[in-house]
Amino acid sequence: MSDPLTASFPPAFLWGAATSAYQIEGAVREDGRTPSIWDTFSHTPGKTAGGDTGDIAVDHYHRYRDDVALMADLSLSAYRFSVSWPRVQPTGRGPAVQVGLDFYRRLVDELLAKGIKPAVTLYHWDLPQELEDSGGWPERDTAYRFAEYAQIVGEALGDRVEQWTTLNEPWCSAFLGYGSGVHAPGRTDPAATLRAAHHLNLAHGLGTSALRAVMPARNQVAISLNSAVVRPLSQDPADLAAVRRIDDLANGVFHGPILHGSYPPSLFEATASVTDWSYVQDGDLAAVHQPLDALGLNYYTPALVSATAETTAGPRADGHGSSDHSPWPAADDVTFHQTPGERTEMGWTIDPTGLHELIMRYTREAPGLPLYITENGAAYDDKPDPDGNVHDPERIAYLHGHLSAVRRAITDGADVRGYYLWSLMDNFEWAYGYGKRFGAVYVDYATLTRTPKSSARWYAEAARTGTLPPV
Ligand code: FCB
Repeated sequence: MSDPLTASFPPAFLWGAATSAYQIEGAVREDGRTPSIWDTFSHTPGKTAGGDTGDIAVDHYHRYRDDVALMADLSLSAYRFSVSWPRVQPTGRGPAVQVGLDFYRRLVDELLAKGIKPAVTLYHWDLPQELEDSGGWPERDTAYRFAEYAQIVGEALGDRVEQWTTLNEPWCSAFLGYGSGVHAPGRTDPAATLRAAHHLNLAHGLGTSALRAVMPARNQVAISLNSAVVRPLSQDPADLAAVRRIDDLANGVFHGPILHGSYPPSLFEATASVTDWSYVQDGDLAAVHQPLDALGLNYYTPALVSATAETTAGPRADGHGSSDHSPWPAADDVTFHQTPGERTEMGWTIDPTGLHELIMRYTREAPGLPLYITENGAAYDDKPDPDGNVHDPERIAYLHGHLSAVRRAITDGADVRGYYLWSLMDNFEWAYGYGKRFGAVYVDYATLTRTPKSSARWYAEAARTGTLPPV
Protein backbone atom coordinates (compact mmCIF):
# COMPACT_ATOMS: atom_id res chain seq x y z
CA MET A 1 0.00 0.00 0.00
CA SER A 2 1.38 3.39 -0.92
CA ASP A 3 2.09 5.96 1.75
CA PRO A 4 -0.59 8.68 1.49
CA LEU A 5 1.90 11.30 2.61
CA THR A 6 4.07 10.82 -0.44
CA ALA A 7 1.80 9.15 -2.99
CA SER A 8 0.67 11.18 -5.97
CA PHE A 9 -2.99 11.91 -6.49
CA PRO A 10 -4.58 10.56 -9.68
CA PRO A 11 -3.50 12.70 -12.67
CA ALA A 12 -7.06 13.89 -13.42
CA PHE A 13 -7.71 14.86 -9.77
CA LEU A 14 -9.17 18.38 -9.59
CA TRP A 15 -7.48 20.85 -7.26
CA GLY A 16 -10.13 23.44 -6.69
CA ALA A 17 -11.30 26.23 -4.44
CA ALA A 18 -14.88 27.15 -3.58
CA THR A 19 -16.88 30.30 -2.85
CA SER A 20 -20.53 31.31 -2.91
CA ALA A 21 -22.34 34.28 -4.42
CA TYR A 22 -23.58 36.12 -1.35
CA GLN A 23 -20.31 35.60 0.49
CA ILE A 24 -18.15 37.29 -2.17
CA GLU A 25 -20.04 39.17 -4.87
CA GLY A 26 -21.32 42.38 -3.27
CA ALA A 27 -23.11 44.62 -5.83
CA VAL A 28 -26.39 43.66 -4.21
CA ARG A 29 -28.39 46.45 -5.82
CA GLU A 30 -26.83 46.39 -9.27
CA ASP A 31 -28.14 45.30 -12.64
CA GLY A 32 -31.63 44.45 -11.48
CA ARG A 33 -30.72 42.14 -8.60
CA THR A 34 -33.43 42.01 -5.92
CA PRO A 35 -32.89 41.13 -2.24
CA SER A 36 -32.42 37.56 -1.09
CA ILE A 37 -33.25 36.26 2.36
CA TRP A 38 -29.62 36.87 3.31
CA ASP A 39 -29.87 40.58 2.44
CA THR A 40 -32.93 40.85 4.67
CA PHE A 41 -31.44 38.75 7.47
CA SER A 42 -28.04 40.44 7.55
CA HIS A 43 -29.75 43.85 7.62
CA THR A 44 -31.86 42.79 10.61
CA PRO A 45 -30.22 44.06 13.82
CA GLY A 46 -28.62 41.35 15.93
CA LYS A 47 -28.52 38.62 13.29
CA THR A 48 -24.87 38.82 12.23
CA ALA A 49 -21.70 39.64 14.16
CA GLY A 50 -21.13 43.37 14.10
CA GLY A 51 -24.16 43.82 11.84
CA ASP A 52 -22.00 42.73 8.89
CA THR A 53 -23.74 42.31 5.53
CA GLY A 54 -22.81 41.10 2.05
CA ASP A 55 -23.52 44.52 0.50
CA ILE A 56 -19.93 44.87 -0.66
CA ALA A 57 -18.47 41.56 0.49
CA VAL A 58 -15.16 41.26 -1.39
CA ASP A 59 -16.55 43.00 -4.49
CA HIS A 60 -16.01 39.94 -6.66
CA TYR A 61 -18.79 41.12 -9.00
CA HIS A 62 -16.42 43.86 -10.19
CA ARG A 63 -13.09 42.14 -9.53
CA TYR A 64 -13.82 38.70 -10.98
CA ARG A 65 -11.16 39.05 -13.70
CA ASP A 66 -8.41 39.68 -11.16
CA ASP A 67 -9.77 36.87 -9.01
CA VAL A 68 -9.61 34.41 -11.89
CA ALA A 69 -6.06 35.59 -12.67
CA LEU A 70 -5.21 34.85 -9.03
CA MET A 71 -6.69 31.35 -9.34
CA ALA A 72 -4.55 30.75 -12.41
CA ASP A 73 -1.52 32.02 -10.53
CA LEU A 74 -2.32 29.47 -7.82
CA SER A 75 -2.49 26.65 -10.42
CA LEU A 76 -6.08 25.76 -9.55
CA SER A 77 -7.64 23.30 -11.96
CA ALA A 78 -11.23 23.93 -10.86
CA TYR A 79 -13.35 26.65 -9.27
CA ARG A 80 -16.69 26.09 -7.54
CA PHE A 81 -18.94 29.13 -7.30
CA SER A 82 -22.66 29.70 -6.91
CA VAL A 83 -25.13 31.69 -8.95
CA SER A 84 -27.17 34.32 -7.14
CA TRP A 85 -30.80 33.44 -7.85
CA PRO A 86 -32.13 37.03 -7.41
CA ARG A 87 -29.43 38.30 -9.80
CA VAL A 88 -30.57 36.13 -12.70
CA GLN A 89 -34.29 35.81 -11.90
CA PRO A 90 -35.25 38.76 -9.69
CA THR A 91 -38.02 37.96 -7.23
CA GLY A 92 -37.69 34.26 -8.10
CA ARG A 93 -40.38 34.30 -10.75
CA GLY A 94 -40.69 35.22 -14.38
CA PRO A 95 -38.16 35.83 -17.10
CA ALA A 96 -34.40 35.73 -16.75
CA VAL A 97 -32.36 38.91 -16.58
CA GLN A 98 -29.73 38.68 -19.30
CA VAL A 99 -27.36 41.17 -17.71
CA GLY A 100 -27.27 38.99 -14.59
CA LEU A 101 -26.62 35.85 -16.62
CA ASP A 102 -23.97 37.75 -18.61
CA PHE A 103 -21.93 38.18 -15.45
CA TYR A 104 -21.73 34.41 -15.03
CA ARG A 105 -21.07 33.90 -18.76
CA ARG A 106 -18.10 36.27 -18.54
CA LEU A 107 -16.85 34.61 -15.36
CA VAL A 108 -17.05 31.15 -16.95
CA ASP A 109 -15.37 32.31 -20.15
CA GLU A 110 -12.56 33.84 -18.13
CA LEU A 111 -12.10 30.57 -16.23
CA LEU A 112 -12.14 28.46 -19.38
CA ALA A 113 -9.62 30.78 -21.04
CA LYS A 114 -7.27 30.06 -18.13
CA GLY A 115 -7.88 26.30 -18.25
CA ILE A 116 -9.85 26.27 -14.95
CA LYS A 117 -12.89 24.00 -14.84
CA PRO A 118 -15.99 25.86 -13.65
CA ALA A 119 -18.31 24.05 -11.23
CA VAL A 120 -21.66 25.81 -10.76
CA THR A 121 -23.79 25.53 -7.64
CA LEU A 122 -27.32 26.76 -8.28
CA TYR A 123 -28.35 27.38 -4.70
CA HIS A 124 -26.03 28.42 -1.91
CA TRP A 125 -28.69 29.81 0.43
CA ASP A 126 -29.74 33.10 -1.21
CA LEU A 127 -33.46 32.53 -1.79
CA PRO A 128 -35.19 35.53 -3.41
CA GLN A 129 -36.95 37.34 -0.55
CA GLU A 130 -40.27 37.32 -2.47
CA LEU A 131 -40.28 33.52 -2.37
CA GLU A 132 -39.75 33.57 1.39
CA ASP A 133 -42.61 36.07 1.64
CA SER A 134 -44.75 33.45 -0.13
CA GLY A 135 -43.76 30.85 2.45
CA GLY A 136 -40.17 29.91 1.55
CA TRP A 137 -38.86 26.34 1.57
CA PRO A 138 -41.65 24.99 3.81
CA GLU A 139 -43.96 25.68 0.83
CA ARG A 140 -44.11 23.19 -2.02
CA ASP A 141 -44.26 25.86 -4.70
CA THR A 142 -40.67 26.93 -3.91
CA ALA A 143 -39.46 23.59 -5.32
CA TYR A 144 -41.22 24.32 -8.64
CA ARG A 145 -39.77 27.82 -8.67
CA PHE A 146 -36.31 26.31 -8.18
CA ALA A 147 -36.80 23.95 -11.13
CA GLU A 148 -37.69 26.92 -13.33
CA TYR A 149 -34.60 28.79 -12.15
CA ALA A 150 -32.44 25.70 -12.78
CA GLN A 151 -33.73 25.60 -16.34
CA ILE A 152 -32.83 29.27 -16.84
CA VAL A 153 -29.27 28.81 -15.66
CA GLY A 154 -28.90 25.44 -17.44
CA GLU A 155 -29.92 27.05 -20.73
CA ALA A 156 -27.53 29.95 -20.23
CA LEU A 157 -24.43 28.08 -19.08
CA GLY A 158 -24.98 24.43 -20.03
CA ASP A 159 -22.93 24.80 -23.19
CA ARG A 160 -19.79 25.77 -21.26
CA VAL A 161 -20.10 24.36 -17.72
CA GLU A 162 -19.90 20.59 -17.26
CA GLN A 163 -20.09 20.33 -13.46
CA TRP A 164 -23.39 21.21 -11.82
CA THR A 165 -24.59 21.13 -8.23
CA THR A 166 -28.23 21.73 -7.45
CA LEU A 167 -28.12 22.62 -3.74
CA ASN A 168 -25.37 23.38 -1.28
CA GLU A 169 -25.92 21.84 2.15
CA PRO A 170 -29.72 21.65 2.23
CA TRP A 171 -29.33 20.71 5.91
CA CYS A 172 -28.23 24.26 6.70
CA SER A 173 -31.05 25.80 4.62
CA ALA A 174 -33.68 23.77 6.46
CA PHE A 175 -32.32 23.20 9.97
CA LEU A 176 -30.42 26.46 10.54
CA GLY A 177 -32.77 28.63 8.45
CA TYR A 178 -36.09 27.34 9.84
CA GLY A 179 -35.03 25.45 13.02
CA SER A 180 -32.39 27.24 15.10
CA GLY A 181 -32.85 30.47 13.16
CA VAL A 182 -29.14 31.33 13.06
CA HIS A 183 -29.33 31.49 9.27
CA ALA A 184 -31.74 33.31 7.00
CA PRO A 185 -34.70 33.52 7.07
CA GLY A 186 -34.27 33.08 10.84
CA ARG A 187 -37.38 31.08 11.65
CA THR A 188 -37.53 28.71 14.63
CA ASP A 189 -40.24 26.19 13.82
CA PRO A 190 -39.48 22.44 14.02
CA ALA A 191 -42.39 21.46 11.74
CA ALA A 192 -41.37 24.03 9.12
CA THR A 193 -37.81 22.67 9.30
CA LEU A 194 -38.88 19.20 8.14
CA ARG A 195 -41.27 20.57 5.52
CA ALA A 196 -38.38 22.68 4.22
CA ALA A 197 -36.14 19.59 4.10
CA HIS A 198 -38.68 17.72 1.98
CA HIS A 199 -39.21 20.62 -0.41
CA LEU A 200 -35.45 21.07 -0.76
CA ASN A 201 -35.24 17.40 -1.71
CA LEU A 202 -38.04 17.91 -4.21
CA ALA A 203 -36.27 21.00 -5.57
CA HIS A 204 -33.12 18.95 -6.05
CA GLY A 205 -35.02 16.25 -7.97
CA LEU A 206 -37.06 18.62 -10.12
CA GLY A 207 -34.03 20.84 -10.68
CA THR A 208 -31.94 17.86 -11.78
CA SER A 209 -34.59 16.87 -14.33
CA ALA A 210 -34.90 20.46 -15.53
CA LEU A 211 -31.13 20.72 -16.02
CA ARG A 212 -30.96 17.42 -17.88
CA ALA A 213 -33.76 18.51 -20.21
CA VAL A 214 -31.83 21.54 -21.41
CA MET A 215 -28.17 20.58 -21.13
CA PRO A 216 -25.81 18.41 -23.18
CA ALA A 217 -25.75 14.83 -21.88
CA ARG A 218 -22.03 15.07 -21.04
CA ASN A 219 -22.69 17.46 -18.16
CA GLN A 220 -22.60 16.09 -14.62
CA VAL A 221 -25.29 16.87 -12.06
CA ALA A 222 -24.60 16.48 -8.33
CA ILE A 223 -25.63 17.81 -4.93
CA SER A 224 -23.33 18.94 -2.10
CA LEU A 225 -24.28 17.54 1.29
CA ASN A 226 -22.69 18.43 4.61
CA SER A 227 -23.21 14.87 5.74
CA ALA A 228 -22.37 14.64 9.39
CA VAL A 229 -19.94 12.21 10.92
CA VAL A 230 -21.80 11.43 14.14
CA ARG A 231 -19.99 9.56 16.90
CA PRO A 232 -21.28 8.24 20.25
CA LEU A 233 -19.89 9.48 23.56
CA SER A 234 -19.91 5.88 24.79
CA GLN A 235 -20.98 2.45 23.59
CA ASP A 236 -24.01 2.63 25.88
CA PRO A 237 -27.09 1.57 23.84
CA ALA A 238 -28.78 4.89 24.65
CA ASP A 239 -25.84 6.82 23.17
CA LEU A 240 -25.82 4.59 20.09
CA ALA A 241 -29.54 5.29 19.66
CA ALA A 242 -28.79 9.05 19.92
CA VAL A 243 -26.28 8.65 17.10
CA ARG A 244 -28.88 6.95 14.89
CA ARG A 245 -31.40 9.69 15.62
CA ILE A 246 -29.03 12.48 14.68
CA ASP A 247 -27.77 10.51 11.70
CA ASP A 248 -31.35 10.36 10.37
CA LEU A 249 -31.86 14.10 10.90
CA ALA A 250 -28.49 15.09 9.47
CA ASN A 251 -27.96 12.53 6.73
CA GLY A 252 -30.80 10.09 6.12
CA VAL A 253 -33.32 12.90 5.62
CA PHE A 254 -31.39 13.88 2.48
CA HIS A 255 -29.45 10.90 1.22
CA GLY A 256 -32.40 8.56 1.91
CA PRO A 257 -34.67 10.04 -0.77
CA ILE A 258 -31.89 11.35 -3.00
CA LEU A 259 -29.78 8.19 -3.22
CA HIS A 260 -32.28 5.47 -2.34
CA GLY A 261 -35.76 6.88 -3.07
CA SER A 262 -37.11 6.67 0.50
CA TYR A 263 -36.99 8.36 3.88
CA PRO A 264 -35.71 6.21 6.76
CA PRO A 265 -38.80 4.82 8.61
CA SER A 266 -36.97 5.61 11.87
CA LEU A 267 -36.96 9.31 10.88
CA PHE A 268 -40.75 9.29 10.53
CA GLU A 269 -41.14 7.55 13.90
CA ALA A 270 -38.74 9.86 15.75
CA THR A 271 -40.36 13.05 14.41
CA ALA A 272 -44.01 12.00 14.72
CA SER A 273 -44.56 14.46 17.59
CA VAL A 274 -43.55 17.32 15.28
CA THR A 275 -44.94 16.48 11.86
CA ASP A 276 -46.99 13.82 10.06
CA TRP A 277 -45.04 14.18 6.78
CA SER A 278 -48.35 14.42 4.87
CA TYR A 279 -46.69 16.91 2.50
CA VAL A 280 -44.73 14.02 0.96
CA GLN A 281 -47.09 13.49 -1.96
CA ASP A 282 -47.44 10.51 -4.29
CA GLY A 283 -44.70 10.59 -6.87
CA ASP A 284 -42.44 12.92 -4.84
CA LEU A 285 -39.92 10.24 -3.93
CA ALA A 286 -39.56 9.16 -7.55
CA ALA A 287 -39.09 12.81 -8.52
CA VAL A 288 -36.37 13.26 -5.87
CA HIS A 289 -34.60 9.99 -6.68
CA GLN A 290 -32.86 11.06 -9.89
CA PRO A 291 -29.74 9.25 -11.02
CA LEU A 292 -26.76 11.43 -10.12
CA ASP A 293 -23.41 11.75 -11.88
CA ALA A 294 -21.48 12.56 -8.71
CA LEU A 295 -21.91 13.40 -5.04
CA GLY A 296 -20.36 16.40 -3.34
CA LEU A 297 -19.31 16.08 0.30
CA ASN A 298 -18.56 19.07 2.52
CA TYR A 299 -16.67 18.26 5.69
CA TYR A 300 -15.27 20.34 8.54
CA THR A 301 -15.55 18.48 11.86
CA PRO A 302 -17.27 15.44 13.39
CA ALA A 303 -20.12 15.52 15.93
CA LEU A 304 -20.09 13.75 19.30
CA VAL A 305 -23.43 12.93 20.90
CA SER A 306 -24.96 11.15 23.84
CA ALA A 307 -28.39 10.50 25.25
CA THR A 308 -29.27 13.24 27.70
CA ALA A 309 -29.64 12.09 31.29
CA GLU A 310 -31.56 15.18 32.27
CA THR A 311 -32.75 18.12 30.19
CA THR A 312 -29.98 20.60 29.45
CA ALA A 313 -30.83 24.27 29.44
CA GLY A 314 -29.09 27.19 27.82
CA PRO A 315 -27.87 28.13 24.38
CA ARG A 316 -26.95 25.40 21.95
CA ALA A 317 -24.05 25.70 19.59
CA ASP A 318 -24.38 23.46 16.57
CA GLY A 319 -21.81 24.60 14.09
CA HIS A 320 -22.79 27.89 12.52
CA GLY A 321 -23.88 30.03 15.45
CA SER A 322 -25.72 29.71 18.71
CA SER A 323 -29.39 29.98 19.47
CA ASP A 324 -31.84 29.11 22.21
CA HIS A 325 -33.59 26.93 19.67
CA SER A 326 -32.21 23.58 18.69
CA PRO A 327 -31.87 22.94 14.96
CA TRP A 328 -32.73 19.27 15.63
CA PRO A 329 -36.50 18.64 15.72
CA ALA A 330 -37.73 16.19 18.35
CA ALA A 331 -34.24 15.54 19.66
CA ASP A 332 -34.14 17.40 22.97
CA ASP A 333 -33.03 14.19 24.60
CA VAL A 334 -29.76 14.21 22.66
CA THR A 335 -26.75 16.21 23.88
CA PHE A 336 -23.93 17.46 21.66
CA HIS A 337 -20.43 17.43 23.15
CA GLN A 338 -17.21 19.11 22.16
CA THR A 339 -15.01 16.55 20.41
CA PRO A 340 -11.64 16.54 22.15
CA GLY A 341 -8.62 17.88 20.32
CA GLU A 342 -7.25 21.04 18.76
CA ARG A 343 -9.77 23.44 17.30
CA THR A 344 -9.92 26.06 14.60
CA GLU A 345 -11.06 29.64 15.13
CA MET A 346 -14.67 28.44 14.63
CA GLY A 347 -14.25 26.17 17.67
CA TRP A 348 -14.51 23.19 15.31
CA THR A 349 -12.28 20.27 16.33
CA ILE A 350 -9.70 19.25 13.75
CA ASP A 351 -10.17 15.58 12.89
CA PRO A 352 -9.20 14.37 9.41
CA THR A 353 -10.21 10.81 10.33
CA GLY A 354 -13.80 12.05 10.03
CA LEU A 355 -13.25 12.93 6.38
CA HIS A 356 -11.86 9.48 5.64
CA GLU A 357 -14.81 7.91 7.45
CA LEU A 358 -17.29 10.01 5.50
CA ILE A 359 -15.75 9.17 2.12
CA MET A 360 -15.71 5.45 2.93
CA ARG A 361 -19.34 5.61 4.10
CA TYR A 362 -20.52 7.04 0.79
CA THR A 363 -18.28 4.66 -1.13
CA ARG A 364 -20.38 1.90 0.46
CA GLU A 365 -23.69 3.79 0.44
CA ALA A 366 -23.51 4.85 -3.22
CA PRO A 367 -21.24 2.35 -4.96
CA GLY A 368 -19.95 3.55 -8.32
CA LEU A 369 -20.86 7.21 -7.72
CA PRO A 370 -17.84 9.50 -8.15
CA LEU A 371 -17.24 11.70 -5.09
CA TYR A 372 -15.92 15.24 -4.84
CA ILE A 373 -14.95 16.99 -1.64
CA THR A 374 -16.79 20.20 -2.47
CA GLU A 375 -15.77 22.02 0.74
CA ASN A 376 -13.14 21.59 3.40
CA GLY A 377 -11.04 24.18 5.18
CA ALA A 378 -10.40 26.12 8.36
CA ALA A 379 -10.78 29.60 9.83
CA TYR A 380 -7.85 31.17 11.64
CA ASP A 381 -7.19 34.64 12.95
CA ASP A 382 -4.78 35.52 10.14
CA LYS A 383 -2.88 38.80 10.17
CA PRO A 384 -0.29 40.22 7.80
CA ASP A 385 3.23 40.53 9.22
CA PRO A 386 5.11 43.86 8.93
CA ASP A 387 6.17 42.94 5.40
CA GLY A 388 2.57 42.30 4.40
CA ASN A 389 2.96 38.51 4.22
CA VAL A 390 0.37 36.26 5.83
CA HIS A 391 1.75 33.12 7.41
CA ASP A 392 -0.84 30.51 8.28
CA PRO A 393 0.97 27.29 9.20
CA GLU A 394 -2.14 26.02 11.04
CA ARG A 395 -4.15 26.11 7.82
CA ILE A 396 -1.36 24.31 5.95
CA ALA A 397 -1.40 21.60 8.63
CA TYR A 398 -5.21 21.38 8.38
CA LEU A 399 -5.12 21.04 4.59
CA HIS A 400 -2.27 18.55 4.72
CA GLY A 401 -4.12 16.41 7.24
CA HIS A 402 -7.38 16.40 5.32
CA LEU A 403 -5.85 15.92 1.88
CA SER A 404 -3.87 12.99 3.33
CA ALA A 405 -7.19 11.54 4.49
CA VAL A 406 -8.56 11.92 0.97
CA ARG A 407 -5.48 10.25 -0.49
CA ARG A 408 -5.80 7.41 2.01
CA ALA A 409 -9.46 6.93 1.03
CA ILE A 410 -8.45 6.70 -2.63
CA THR A 411 -5.92 4.02 -1.68
CA ASP A 412 -8.75 2.28 0.18
CA GLY A 413 -10.82 2.15 -3.01
CA ALA A 414 -12.83 5.40 -2.95
CA ASP A 415 -13.44 7.20 -6.24
CA VAL A 416 -12.67 10.77 -5.17
CA ARG A 417 -12.22 12.94 -8.26
CA GLY A 418 -11.42 16.30 -6.75
CA TYR A 419 -11.10 18.60 -3.73
CA TYR A 420 -12.33 22.16 -3.35
CA LEU A 421 -10.71 24.10 -0.58
CA TRP A 422 -13.09 26.39 1.34
CA SER A 423 -12.42 29.10 0.56
CA LEU A 424 -10.53 30.78 -2.24
CA MET A 425 -10.43 34.03 -0.25
CA ASP A 426 -11.65 35.47 3.04
CA ASN A 427 -15.32 36.38 2.81
CA PHE A 428 -18.65 36.96 4.57
CA GLU A 429 -18.97 34.00 6.91
CA TRP A 430 -22.76 34.17 7.38
CA ALA A 431 -23.81 34.87 11.01
CA TYR A 432 -20.13 35.40 11.91
CA GLY A 433 -19.74 38.20 9.39
CA TYR A 434 -16.17 39.04 8.36
CA GLY A 435 -14.70 37.96 11.68
CA LYS A 436 -13.88 34.43 10.57
CA ARG A 437 -11.30 34.08 7.82
CA PHE A 438 -11.46 30.85 5.79
CA GLY A 439 -9.51 32.07 2.76
CA ALA A 440 -6.31 30.75 1.26
CA VAL A 441 -6.08 34.34 0.06
CA TYR A 442 -6.15 37.15 2.63
CA VAL A 443 -8.51 40.05 2.00
CA ASP A 444 -7.84 43.44 3.56
CA TYR A 445 -11.42 44.59 4.07
CA ALA A 446 -10.43 48.29 4.09
CA THR A 447 -8.85 48.19 0.63
CA LEU A 448 -10.15 44.84 -0.67
CA THR A 449 -6.57 43.96 -1.62
CA ARG A 450 -5.98 40.24 -2.03
CA THR A 451 -2.79 38.61 -0.68
CA PRO A 452 -2.18 34.87 -1.02
CA LYS A 453 -1.41 33.38 2.41
CA SER A 454 1.38 30.83 2.74
CA SER A 455 -1.31 28.11 2.60
CA ALA A 456 -2.27 29.32 -0.89
CA ARG A 457 1.34 28.84 -2.02
CA TRP A 458 1.46 25.41 -0.37
CA TYR A 459 -1.80 24.39 -2.06
CA ALA A 460 -0.59 25.73 -5.41
CA GLU A 461 2.43 23.46 -5.18
CA ALA A 462 0.19 20.49 -4.39
CA ALA A 463 -1.97 21.37 -7.41
CA ARG A 464 1.09 21.71 -9.66
CA THR A 465 2.78 18.49 -8.58
CA GLY A 466 -0.21 16.32 -7.66
CA THR A 467 1.63 15.46 -4.43
CA LEU A 468 1.36 17.01 -0.97
CA PRO A 469 4.37 19.18 -0.13
CA PRO A 470 5.73 18.69 3.41
CA VAL A 471 4.31 20.97 6.11
C1 FCB B 1 -20.27 25.67 4.92
C2 FCB B 1 -20.88 26.63 3.92
C3 FCB B 1 -19.92 27.67 3.43
C4 FCB B 1 -19.06 28.20 4.57
C5 FCB B 1 -18.40 27.06 5.30
C6 FCB B 1 -17.47 27.49 6.38
O1 FCB B 1 -21.28 25.10 5.70
O2 FCB B 1 -21.39 25.92 2.81
O3 FCB B 1 -20.64 28.69 2.79
O4 FCB B 1 -19.84 28.94 5.43
O5 FCB B 1 -19.39 26.23 5.84
